[in-house]
Amino acid sequence: MIKLSDGRNLPLDMHKVKIIQRLPFPTVEQRLAAIREAGFNTFLLRTRDMFLDMLTDSGTNAQSDAQLAASMEADDAYAGSESFYKLAEAVREVFGCEYTLPVHQGRAAEHLIAKCFVKPGHVIPMNQHFTTTKAHFVMAGGTVEEICIDEAFNTDSSYSFKGNLDIEKLKSLIFKHGADKIPFIRMESTANLLGGQPFSMANLKEVRAIADQYKIPIIVDTSLIGDNAYMIKRREAGYENRTIGEIIHEIISMADLIYMSARKSCTSRGGLIATRKKEIYDLIAPLVPVYEGFLTYGGISTREIESMAVGLREMTDEYTAGCAADLIEYFVARLSEKGVPVVTPAGGVGAHIDAMRFLPHLDHPQYPAGALAAAIFICSGVRGMERGTVSMDRDIDGTELISELELVRLAVPRRVFTLSHIEYVVDRVAWLYNHREMIGGLTFEYEPEMLRFFLGRLKPVAAGKAASNWDEKLAQAFIRDFSLDM
Ligand SMILES: Cc1ncc(COP(=O)(O)O)c(C=O)c1O
Repeated sequence: MIKLSDGRNLPLDMHKVKIIQRLPFPTVEQRLAAIREAGFNTFLLRTRDMFLDMLTDSGTNAQSDAQLAASMEADDAYAGSESFYKLAEAVREVFGCEYTLPVHQGRAAEHLIAKCFVKPGHVIPMNQHFTTTKAHFVMAGGTVEEICIDEAFNTDSSYSFKGNLDIEKLKSLIFKHGADKIPFIRMESTANLLGGQPFSMANLKEVRAIADQYKIPIIVDTSLIGDNAYMIKRREAGYENRTIGEIIHEIISMADLIYMSARKSCTSRGGLIATRKKEIYDLIAPLVPVYEGFLTYGGISTREIESMAVGLREMTDEYTAGCAADLIEYFVARLSEKGVPVVTPAGGVGAHIDAMRFLPHLDHPQYPAGALAAAIFICSGVRGMERGTVSMDRDIDGTELISELELVRLAVPRRVFTLSHIEYVVDRVAWLYNHREMIGGLTFEYEPEMLRFFLGRLKPVAAGKAASNWDEKLAQAFIRDFSLDM
């Protein structure tokens, strides 16, 4: 981020474009047809149906020339691949962990961790769940307890560390269940479903002190650790002159075990588990050849392992760690200027629109965040992601579990979008905000039992002044203000 002479902050790109992908620009009629075909679920859209893909920053980041060059040196040995040893060296350097286990992606790490540590009756406290994390821990018989601070649910806030874990809630959870029922405390850096909100180092230190007192291990999900470290540097007193590498080291020094999806901060694919403790490594390692692949490739291509090694080191560069956070800060500021209710302060992953404030005429069972994601797509060709009640699965007795937050995430993958893209999205979302009463709700037509947001299909329903064919009426209003081919 640099300051312009008029005082504004500009997220300055510290890279140049070398390879491009031509984007389609489907008309509003084509977008309406596509979202209907996709059952109003943005996961079921095809790339050819959209202009900007802001579904996720997972595996969609632009890789560096150094990452691509390294991938050409991949050693494809089934066992003993030199590419693995390069990754293990990078993990030692960046995380200070002696032991590394590659796995095919973040959820594979969650699967193995659940298999080793989560038993029926266990309770796992965490600053916030992630969808796949919760699914694995629950399938292993555990219960997930989200004990983020109350401020995390205030979407209009200036609190810097909404990803903090509530220390008093942690103490009462330990008191209630007993430390022997808690296999570990999980800290997610940054808390994705809260809007990519970071935790502070001070908070992690407090969690560590409690963990030491009750002899409970800490697991840190480091999928977004570059972003969390960057926000600590920008926001936490005492860290302004520390390097990203030093901050990452300090975070990991407080973890017993870490795992990550390398698809995010690390701008590659794959995932890994790492630890300083041999006894933990010895527990998990035998499962890797059973579920993933041999220990030196873990189910990922060795090209990706090479690019992960480079991506990990690049993540310690301040610009690389913060490039998404800076652009998101700009994006959030521009949406706020237009009056669009958006989660503040800006976090990682993307800009998060608060669908409850955007659509006050909708109630939770009408899935406001799902409806808003579909409406944004119709008006812009931009694919966002519902992060609200649709993303929660029903309770075992079939009761709808209402999400505290109803967000639409417009993800900002690293080094992919330009300011012109961001300005376009801001304009279309602002137009939609001025037509918000036209947006109705959604209801499920097909609802899978687990992780229903991936494959579920929905249809429009009336809500407030919006009719049940609100999707069509919205497209007509758009054509009146713009034109058919916009
Ligand atoms: C914080 C966090 N943990 C775990 C995962 C799961 O990782 P993957 O998608 O690589 O399986 C994700 C994915 O987005 C994530 O954001």
